[in-house]
Amino acid sequence: MKEKIERLLETREKVELGGGEKRIAKQHERGKLTARERINLLLDEDSFVEIDAFVKHRCTNFGMEDVDAPSDGVVTGYGTVDGRLVFVYAQDFTVLGGSLGEMHAAKINKVQDMALKMGAPIVGINDSGGARIQEGVDALSGYGKIFYRNTQSSGVIPQISAIMGPSAGGAVYSPALTDFIFMVEKTSQMFITGPQVIKAVTGEDVSQEELGGANTHNTISGVAHFKDSTEEESLQRIRTLLSYLPSNNLETPPVYEMGDDINRVEEALNEIVPVNPNRPYDMKEIIRLLADNGEFFEIQEYFAQNIITGFIRLNGKTIGVVANQPKFLAGCLDINASDKAGRFIRTCDAFNIPLLNLVDVPGFLPGTDQEYGGIIRHGAKMLYAYSEATVPKVTLIVRKAYGGAYLAMCSKDLGADQVFAWPNAEIAVMGPDGAANIIFKHDIANSDDPVGTRQEKIEEYRDTVANPYIAAERGFVDDVIVPSITRPRIISAFDMLESKRESNPAKKHGNLPV
Ligand code: HXC
Repeated sequence: MKEKIERLLETREKVELGGGEKRIAKQHERGKLTARERINLLLDEDSFVEIDAFVKHRCTNFGMEDVDAPSDGVVTGYGTVDGRLVFVYAQDFTVLGGSLGEMHAAKINKVQDMALKMGAPIVGINDSGGARIQEGVDALSGYGKIFYRNTQSSGVIPQISAIMGPSAGGAVYSPALTDFIFMVEKTSQMFITGPQVIKAVTGEDVSQEELGGANTHNTISGVAHFKDSTEEESLQRIRTLLSYLPSNNLETPPVYEMGDDINRVEEALNEIVPVNPNRPYDMKEIIRLLADNGEFFEIQEYFAQNIITGFIRLNGKTIGVVANQPKFLAGCLDINASDKAGRFIRTCDAFNIPLLNLVDVPGFLPGTDQEYGGIIRHGAKMLYAYSEATVPKVTLIVRKAYGGAYLAMCSKDLGADQVFAWPNAEIAVMGPDGAANIIFKHDIANSDDPVGTRQEKIEEYRDTVANPYIAAERGFVDDVIVPSITRPRIISAFDMLESKRESNPAKKHGNLPV
């Protein structure tokens, strides 16, 4: 027995060395960690339990029968984050470039299946040359099986992807099917076709980083949700993200003792919105003043900055925030903002996270770019996502709420459970400038002083229509509140809504506009 135990320990030690010291050193030289180092940073200390360490590939093409690939290039298992069960897989670039073959995929499939069965989140750490070329269609099938499980698990357990190296070709679609994508600056790239193929097909010159690096996917494409400058920061941020999420769709997120007064009155809120309705301000300041301890975990911070999405806690409970940002495009809704918000609303609804909607929106962004790009179908995603969401929904109209965008930001008619407005709120079909031009066209044209008359009519419209009281008279706004008491009022609303029960009509699934 002693010998057998020794042999076991030796084998395990060899397996744990992955592709060997030289390749590990190369990985470190590039500013990258190994698969096991990453897992250990992600999970609570000493909590990782590896499974399938002894799995081997079965490929015999191109001399592969003589190739030893420890753990077949992927480390899989489970552990805890803040004491809660989490499944994990990390591709090992030191073994055949982390390439994915039949058994590598089977190992990932096993932890995917276990995560779904146990109702626990799964984190996939991607660092791979893609489909293992020697394994051909078996490798492609492996990807297909991963995509299938990603889809089956969607909306049931949180799925998180960390990109910590290359992710190329169809391989990018597993992360794309998950809920959140993390990238690391300079060392991670995602693209369907690489720079050489692009050069050959279109003649375009582009570097890997420019094409699919963390900045590109966080600012331009919106594929990724987070970027960090080191892997350590990224892994720590995944731990924080998990603290806001439930383990599965049948649970609610964990509640934390935050030590912040639920009756806190914030006088600063009375002054935060400029008197001039055309002047911008930073909506994030309002979010932080409302949140427990001012903590705001922002999601997609650099993409479609005209809308803000992220998590706060109120009375220790996770709340998803969707807010217009007047600092960018005056807070208008456009294609990217609609996609960003629509996706976030559905993520919150899937995982029982109530929604707080902070509204200061002058409308949908006008222009041929937007119309040709399909703002109609993209904007429809927000209407759809809010109407479909059955979690508690509280809306606060901070300033402007005009037209279709008023509805799209979760008005009463889309199922908001409580709508509050600050006394300066302007709720109407369109902004006073545009409205005056249309309904007072003749008065302005026939006036001796068209500029003065126009200004007078704008003010008349604002005083008569663009205020919160007409909406409040009809019950579209539940209450007009003094800004300083917003935190206690919304905490009280979410407390009242905690026992909310609502379900949509039975159906196979809805048909979200895409
Ligand atoms: C088999 C692979 C591999 C692959 C890398 N390796 N990619 N082995 N299949 N796909 C091996 C290399 O042979 C090498 O082995 C080791 O991994 C490290 O690779 P290097 O090239 O030395 O590393 P580096 O210079 O850092 O370049 C990394 C790379 C490059 C950019 C990822 O290896 C590369 O371009 N690989 C091919 C990428 C690709 O086209 N994959 C197919 C994508 S299409 P040794 O023994 O020397 O250490 C795809 C389809 C999925 O994935 C479809 C899903 C539906």
